[in-house]
Formats: sequence, structure tokens, C-alpha cells
Amino acid sequence: MKVLVLGASGLVGGNCVKVFESKENVDVVGTYFSFETENTVFFDTLNPQNPENFNVDEFKPNVIVHCGALTHVDYCEDHQEESYQKTVQSTLNAIELCKKFNAKLVYLSTDYVFDGTKGFYKEEDEVNPLSIYGKHKLEAELAVKKELADFVIVRITNVYGDEVRGKNFIARLSVNMQKGEPMELRLPYDQYATPANAFDIAKAIWLLVNDKKVGIYHFGSTDYLNRIQLCQKVAQYFGHDKVVINPISTKEMNQAADRPLLGGFSTEKFIKEYPGFYFSNVDDYLKKLKLNSTY
Ligand SMILES: NC(=O)c1ccc[n+]([C@@H]2O[C@H](COP(=O)([O-])OP(=O)(O)OC[C@H]3O[C@@H](n4cnc5c(N)ncnc54)[C@H](OP(=O)(O)O)[C@@H]3O)[C@@H](O)[C@H]2O)c1
Repeated sequence: MKVLVLGASGLVGGNCVKVFESKENVDVVGTYFSFETENTVFFDTLNPQNPENFNVDEFKPNVIVHCGALTHVDYCEDHQEESYQKTVQSTLNAIELCKKFNAKLVYLSTDYVFDGTKGFYKEEDEVNPLSIYGKHKLEAELAVKKELADFVIVRITNVYGDEVRGKNFIARLSVNMQKGEPMELRLPYDQYATPANAFDIAKAIWLLVNDKKVGIYHFGSTDYLNRIQLCQKVAQYFGHDKVVINPISTKEMNQAADRPLLGGFSTEKFIKEYPGFYFSNVDDYLKKLKLNSTY
């Protein structure tokens, strides 16, 4: 099997490469765009004809895992055309690549396609995005479903885990706390989600790809936490007396983009198909970080 991971310099893509290359008879290539990492090659999903691009024609992938997107939700709200290009157009280009090589597409989406009035969303729940980011992720999903017969759409939220840049919420918090830096955090108490470890997401994607599954799947863990609780978890392991948490409402935060307040996923569908699979939780990850701490 030949797998091309677009956006492998990022959190989810990097973990996908790690998992896929550990499998037998899998040839995996991961791409970067602006941030080169070890073992990634350049590929611009917005310009598939760029002569600098990795030669996909020669590689001929059977599977493309598309992890590239503009993920800064408030920035998307104020830069709609850029958001469209980086989320929708990049996916349309990935779809064309899949058609060319008769490849399966794995597309990563989000709980921002929902309005957050319910929580624990199931695959068949009605979508109703509140933000430009959510609308563009949904538009990309719909294009994938319309244009390809062989696809998997994986919806995820609040992803954390090991990544080269350590930019996810938990990674940043834990590093700053371990450095003993004074921190005053204003965090919303009314945004709930089911955080998931990128390594679990990658392992679960592998199962779906290997078993030739088609359709939408929701991934999450057994954690259902708001941002305060997530921060408190990190503080339980690495906190000190100079960490101050100020709880505020999402409304008070006055961000450019509206958020789904009760987000997160039910993983019922996936677990029914893979009863032996364990989605680890935030404590599992923090215990590991604590064991390996070099501070
Ligand atoms: N992280 C979350 O909590 C979360 C939640 C819900 C859904 N998702 C979805 O999951 C996917 C992966 O997210 P992530 O957290 O792994 O994001 P990330 O860490 O920000 O990584 C994004 C990746 O996309 C690449 N990229 C950006 N523009 C590109 C272009 N024009 N051509 C090729 N590659 C390009 C980036 O490359 P460079 O960095 O090298 O420029 C990077 O490798 C996204 O679709 C996101 O919407 C993430």
C-alpha cells in the first residue's frame, strides 16, 4: 500500500506517518508546506503543478490522508478567501489527485460542523456550522462525499499529543508549567469537547484504511471536558502556585468566530466496529509526559 500524508509536519499528519510507517508492506510519504520536518517532502496542496512539489505521479499513492487546513478559527473568520483556499480548494485538489490515482481519500474534519447545542455528536446528527472555519470544513466534506466513492471522513476535536512544534493546547501548557513560568489564563468554562490524542487518531485511521471502510467516523476519548478542566488536568501534574486560572464565558471572550459550546463526539459507531480499540485519555498522556519530563 502506498500512502501519501498531506500535512505531515503537523500534529495529526505527523502521527499518521509514525503509525503508517510501522506497518508491514506500507510505503508512506509525508509532506510539509512551510515547516520542513525530518522525513517530510515539500508539497503545496494549493498548487499541485508546482515543479518543486514531491513527484506524486511517480509515487502513485493508493491512499491520501489530507491533514492540511487553516486551523486558526478566528483568523479564518477575518480571512474568508484564504480560509476557502486552504480548506476547500486544497481538498478539491486532493480529490483530483485521488481521481487520478484511483486512491482512497481520508479527510480530517471537526465538531465545528455542528452548532454545539447538543454535544456527543453522532455521525448522523444534523450539521449546522457557526463559523467560517466550520462552514468551509463542511463544504470540503460535501465535496469529498459527492466526488469520491472511496473516502473516509474522520471528525475530531481538541487534539493533543506529540508533535515537533509542540503547539497544541496541552503541550504548550505543560511545557510552560514545567518551566515554572507565571501564568494567568483566561479560559472559557462553557466550551465542552472530547479531546483526543493524535496518536490514537492515527491508529484508528489505520484500521479504517486497512479494512477498506467508507463513510464518516467520529473519534474522541472518554474525556468530556471544558477548557478549565483541561487546564486543571495539566496543573494536577505540572502546576505550581504561579498558575492562575480565570474562568470566563465564551461570550465574554468576544472572539471573532462563534464556537459550538457543547461539542465533542460519540464514538459509538467506531467502537461497535472495533470493540478492542482503546481511545486513551488526557490523564494517560500527562502521566507519560511526567515520566519523560526533562525539566
Ligand atoms: N488540532 C485539532 O484540534 C483539530 C480539531 C478538529 C479538526 N482538525 C483537523 O485535522 C486536520 C489536521 O490538523 P492539525 O491539528 O494536525 O493541524 P496542523 O498541526 O496545523 O497541521 C496542518 C498541516 O497542514 C499543512 N499545510 C498547510 N497549508 C498547506 C498547503 N498549502 N499545502 C500543503 N500542506 C499545507 C501544514 O504544513 P506546514 O506547517 O509545513 O506549513 C501542516 O503540516 C485539519 O484538517 C484540521 O482542520 C484538527
